Amino acid sequence: MERSGNSILITGGGSGIGRGLAEALHKLGNQVVIAGRRQQALEETTAAHPEMKSLTLDIEDREAIGSFAARVAGEFPALSVLINNAGIMRAEKLLAQQADLADAEATVATNLLGPIRLTAALLPHLKKQPRATIMNVSSGLAFVPLALTPVYCATKAAMHSYTQSLRYQLRATKIEVLELIPPYVATHLMNGTDDPRAMPLGQFITEVMEILKQQPTPPEICVENVKRLRFAAESGHYEAIFQGMNGAMAGPD
Ligand SMILES: NC(=O)c1ccc[n+]([C@@H]2O[C@H](COP(=O)([O-])OP(=O)(O)OC[C@H]3O[C@@H](n4cnc5c(N)ncnc54)[C@H](OP(=O)(O)O)[C@@H]3O)[C@@H](O)[C@H]2O)c1
Repeated sequence: MERSGNSILITGGGSGIGRGLAEALHKLGNQVVIAGRRQQALEETTAAHPEMKSLTLDIEDREAIGSFAARVAGEFPALSVLINNAGIMRAEKLLAQQADLADAEATVATNLLGPIRLTAALLPHLKKQPRATIMNVSSGLAFVPLALTPVYCATKAAMHSYTQSLRYQLRATKIEVLELIPPYVATHLMNGTDDPRAMPLGQFITEVMEILKQQPTPPEICVENVKRLRFAAESGHYEAIFQGMNGAMAGPD
């Protein structure tokens, strides 16, 4: 991916990692369009960067995605980069939720079906560009699950798999497919902004932007902090890492 001169759509660009990427890419001379549900979060971001544009989108809403994609393609004909970043993460007690799968369903709709639907809706437009990029945001938890958030981790593992297939199917096109694999970063995703164990957002974005300088861009964008999880299986320490992350979890109360 070229680091400048693109027209870029970032879902969930009004906060956290999406906002950090939006600001860093905007600073490098890209046209950035951010999307999300909360108008206020979007407006706070665009107010700080008036050339940035925003559009509201609820990525859980299947019908809305089609009209949103048509609008984006119409208003931003040069759009050539899609960053599928919007996501939610919820704790779930699997023994207690048998009758109510609302959190599980919302998580699948947002984190998995959302990016799949938006990618499908924008692919015809991206195919027309001289070069294009789809960047999917997965997680280190795609590689070792945090059992407290089972469906979240399952959607991220699925995004990893989907991204590999998408890359393979698009190999003969001018669309490159990247996967951004964050570690635990201090954002509002799970109220982690004050957690000293989380990587500071600014530090994470700086390291990601350094990786994006590499040409060609590595298909998997992994900052140092996430490599322990990303390569847990390959390192032979998967079981120890799984137990270390989940061992202290409360029992099935
Ligand atoms: N922070 C971490 O530790 C971490 C680690 C690994 C991966 N990630 C991934 O990084 C991505 C960004 O998360 P973050 O940490 O930056 O958390 P965040 O600040 O909570 O950002 C999530 C963004 O997604 C948007 N979003 C959620 N549901 C949406 C919906 N239905 N439609 C449209 N937009 C929606 C939110 O905007 P609205 O609420 O305004 O819609 C928000 O801007 C997520 O995919 C997350 O899984 C984060």
